[in-house]
Amino acid sequence: MTKKNEEPNVEKRTKSWCALPDAYPKPSVCQQNLFYATLLLEDYAGNASELTAINQYMHHHFMFDDKYKDLAELEECIGIIEMHHLELLAESILLLGVDPKYRTLTNNSPTFWDASYVFYGTDIYDMLAADIVAEKQAIKQYRKHHFLIEDIHIKGLLERIIKDEEYHLKLFTQAASHYCPELFRKITGSSDQDD
Ligand SMILES: [Fe+2]
Ligand SMILES: [Fe+2]
Repeated sequence: MTKKNEEPNVEKRTKSWCALPDAYPKPSVCQQNLFYATLLLEDYAGNASELTAINQYMHHHFMFDDKYKDLAELEECIGIIEMHHLELLAESILLLGVDPKYRTLTNNSPTFWDASYVFYGTDIYDMLAADIVAEKQAIKQYRKHHFLIEDIHIKGLLERIIKDEEYHLKLFTQAASHYCPELFRKITGSSDQDD
């Protein structure tokens, strides 16, 4: 018999134009696991991580605000979604039995997050290129961790986050096609998709 309160193991949707509308799974784990926490800490506060993405996109938001209003809004909007990802990871890391301080524990050695992980950039071209690389790295790393983690709850959460990262990649690529056609051609390898 199904209990009434067993069904909705999902969080409320995050209303945002730069996240997919699908609900996020409520953070949950089968049991505490230091290895899984170590993997999630890389996604949380490693070099290629949510914390790096938040700070990079917010810096780019500040820099674009004067000249490229819509791009500045895109950076901020995506940065806020990365904050939500950070929160979901923090809650999962806690459930796995580890304090979600801003550091990794890979090879049993604490490495604290560093502001030099952020690609600050000098112009719209290299900033957008770095943002596209950041999303590609995130997708690759999440897929790797999804493969290594057997906990079905964490796998579900990573699958949902990957969907947002793929959408972010699409949004940044669309911005590149508008502002930096040369970058867009380089990314897509196309010569016939100019605006
Ligand atoms: Fe993210
Ligand atoms: Fe993202």
